Amino acid sequence: MTFRRLILLAAAAFAAAPAMAEPARDPEIEALIGKMTLEEKAGQLNMVSFVPMHETKFDPITKGLKDGTVGSLFNVHGFETARELQKRALDSRLKIPLILALDVVHGYRVIFPTPLAQAASFDIEAIRRSEDIASREAAADGVNLLLTPMLDVSRDARWGRVVEGPGESSYLASRIAEARVKGVDGDGGHSFAKSCVKHFGANGAVEGGRDYTAQDISERGLRETYLPPFRAAADAGTQCMMSAFNAPDGAPTVINRRLLTDVLRGEWGFKGVVTSDFKAIHETVTHGVAEDDRSAAKLAFTAGADLDMESRAFVEHLPLLVRESEIEPAALDEAVRRVLTLKKSLGLFKDPMRGLTAAPQAALKPEHLAASQDLAEKSFVLLKNKDRALPFAPDVNDVALIGPLGDAPADTLGPWAGRGEPSETVTLRMGLEKRLGEGKVTFTPGGTAAASREEEIEAAVETARRADVVVLALGEKFDQSGEGASRAELGLPGDQMALASAVLALGKPTVVVVFAGRPLALTELAEKAPAVLYAWQPGTMGGAALAAVLMGDVSPSGRLPMTMPRALGQVPIHHDQRITGRPYDPTDPYTSGYRDQSPEPLYPFGHGLAYTDFAYGAPTIARPTLRRGEDQTVTVRVTNVGKRPGVAVPQLYVRPLSARVARPARELRGFARVELAPGETREVALKLKPEDFGYWTSGAGFEIAAGGVEVMTGPDAEDTKSARFEYRP
Ligand code: BGC
Repeated sequence: MTFRRLILLAAAAFAAAPAMAEPARDPEIEALIGKMTLEEKAGQLNMVSFVPMHETKFDPITKGLKDGTVGSLFNVHGFETARELQKRALDSRLKIPLILALDVVHGYRVIFPTPLAQAASFDIEAIRRSEDIASREAAADGVNLLLTPMLDVSRDARWGRVVEGPGESSYLASRIAEARVKGVDGDGGHSFAKSCVKHFGANGAVEGGRDYTAQDISERGLRETYLPPFRAAADAGTQCMMSAFNAPDGAPTVINRRLLTDVLRGEWGFKGVVTSDFKAIHETVTHGVAEDDRSAAKLAFTAGADLDMESRAFVEHLPLLVRESEIEPAALDEAVRRVLTLKKSLGLFKDPMRGLTAAPQAALKPEHLAASQDLAEKSFVLLKNKDRALPFAPDVNDVALIGPLGDAPADTLGPWAGRGEPSETVTLRMGLEKRLGEGKVTFTPGGTAAASREEEIEAAVETARRADVVVLALGEKFDQSGEGASRAELGLPGDQMALASAVLALGKPTVVVVFAGRPLALTELAEKAPAVLYAWQPGTMGGAALAAVLMGDVSPSGRLPMTMPRALGQVPIHHDQRITGRPYDPTDPYTSGYRDQSPEPLYPFGHGLAYTDFAYGAPTIARPTLRRGEDQTVTVRVTNVGKRPGVAVPQLYVRPLSARVARPARELRGFARVELAPGETREVALKLKPEDFGYWTSGAGFEIAAGGVEVMTGPDAEDTKSARFEYRP
């Protein structure tokens, strides 16, 4: 193919932001900057973890607030605390109010399913609503900046933090990014806090699944996989980004000027605040790229970081760096201006408590609980349902609930449960008991998630033997995923597989409910169990949502946002792996596979069953030839061919056929959630833009090849039918 056949597209989504006139400066902020000492300026760039108000421990913060050397606090919650802290800040010389930040990752008081579980819903509006609620609840308690959403695309299930993120598809992650930012930031009213998107860069590109590591990422990997959700968040208007811990191209992100300044500010036009992650500036010394905190401060500041979270390097070194002419005074003013602008847009200058006069009501709001249950129900993924083991018959009488996760409130909430209370959480046991009525559920844990003694397994088998149906509640504890919780094994922890095997050997109608923060490798379990429902960590209303789905009040409608491996050795595995010159052929060992295992997933990305069946037609294309500036419409016909209502999630994948670089066999580029009554057919139209099949080249940036484009539609990434069209710009 000649270069001329390749059309360089300066498409809006790819191009540098148009040069815009600088907005007029705010006189109030300029007056303030004019009065500030260098120490006070550096103080505005200093974000410190709040330590509970024991006077001894609190002293440094009291001092910092008084002399203006602490401008933001995180790990703060509670109306009274917020009021006291703001009061102390207002006692300082310049009376500058505080940013009070907190990680609010999947809810504040009412806890929603984990972000990965939410991604499984493929319901963008429900995700937006969850953030709207979290933001209102947190703001009502005095928090004004939420350290969320976490947008790290991740393909390695060993990494504990996959639970906080949007999964493996950069397209799905980008749609979620927009929804989350809009949800947190709301309509700009003061009942909302603001988002601080994290972790800008390629934080999900970990090596060996371990925290804080980085693969050596190519520019293409960054541009195509890891950066798009952050671009979507910037376009959706977030005013704060947290830089990643890791160093995807050598320089740790917090001192990576190319990423923080050239890409984020230069190309994307981001005007907000960039914060470091926890102690990340100091840790560049450990990385071995800065000699000491002074040079770390200089490197991070000149790279484009505005806020120093917890390293105290900015507050200690920036004033002297300016005095010694190593940093431009105007650059310091610019960073301070950004932070003050964020404070102003939060309404803090008008009223540091943003209209709050009293602590919020203690009781959880029924409409927030209902939204959490709705999202939980939508997030469960029915992986297998042999002989329609689910749903249970309405008159089911005697249910054996077995397993360490059956009545585990903290594990039902998940790893980053804000101010959610285990005591307010509906476990699976509670949900089933409430739904079925008194005395119909017998619970035997069969050990803990860590270990089962023989007699505990025997007791569980006895309970199962006497029941009509069995629910096995297995999986991970809340602290087996999340930050600092990577795993080198992806099986069920402890002796849970032995427990499951003993119970399943009875041959009773048995359903496994898996609680987990990541896709586990469950090949043996999936072979033995008639039905497997993936529940993730479903939040405050998890047990009620599970009972509704098990009993068939609601049909499961979640789809996998990460590919489920057959075996640990397949990880990282994802739907958009590149085609090799020798794609896998089970009859030919000299193709891209393993000697001891199929390279194919146990369940592909996008997989999820319902209580009915759907038939998918082949895609039809609106324009056999697509021209520059036009959008394509791909239509797929879906019919509910079963006897129950259900939600189909038709998915659109794409592959350019004449690209200059090897492309993934398929990449998700569209989806819809469609409710269908029995017998109902819908034609679902999915839009495709030329940039959806563009790609990054090292020499020429993003380009879109003229030529054939294959589109694939179907119920998951593997079960697709295809059509093609020509792109002739
Ligand atoms: C995490 C961030 C978090 C910060 C503050 C860090 O360790 O990586 O996601 O926002 O701590 O709690």
